[in-house]
Amino acid sequence: EKPRWTGQPIVLVGLMGAGKSTVGRRLAARLGLAFVDADHEIEHAAGMTISDIFAKFGEAHFRDGERRVIQRLIDGRPKVIATGGGAFVNDETRALILSDALSIWLDAPVEVLVDRVGRRDTRPLLRGRDPAQVLRDLAAVRNPLYAQAHLRVASGNAPHDITVRAIMKAIG
Ligand code: S3P
Repeated sequence: EKPRWTGQPIVLVGLMGAGKSTVGRRLAARLGLAFVDADHEIEHAAGMTISDIFAKFGEAHFRDGERRVIQRLIDGRPKVIATGGGAFVNDETRALILSDALSIWLDAPVEVLVDRVGRRDTRPLLRGRDPAQVLRDLAAVRNPLYAQAHLRVASGNAPHDITVRAIMKAIG
């Protein structure tokens, strides 16, 4: 049965470069809802960049803060939340999103993700590495988990507005 949107927070999940922030902002505008970027909230709460959190405290610490921020954002009020690519991979964070939000996987082919993240990316998981290799490896591990999201919407080469329209159709 098709999951229905009944006003719960809408949470976008998927790999880096899938378009979560851009699509999320435009989707929120279309729906007349607030948009929140979880990565920005984490940076605001910590008073430092995600790169610095990774460098100073490590990824596990970041995942902890990420879970707490997302828990706070999922408060029953309708809004659109873009999450960082690893949020939905964390068991506790995923359980939280699956129970109290409508999750949407923005699914794009690795070649498209590589194009979108570019080559001089500052994301800690990509820095100094071959983005194509990293994204391929992450897709292999993470796609089975993203597949647990309530809805899957293709976010390939098409302009983001097409993806927004596909989401509107899927939840409408
Ligand atoms: C991460 C993705 C990033 C950010 C952090 C870790 C990941 O967010 O949360 O660098 O594990 O995939 P975006 O998906 O918005 O790039």
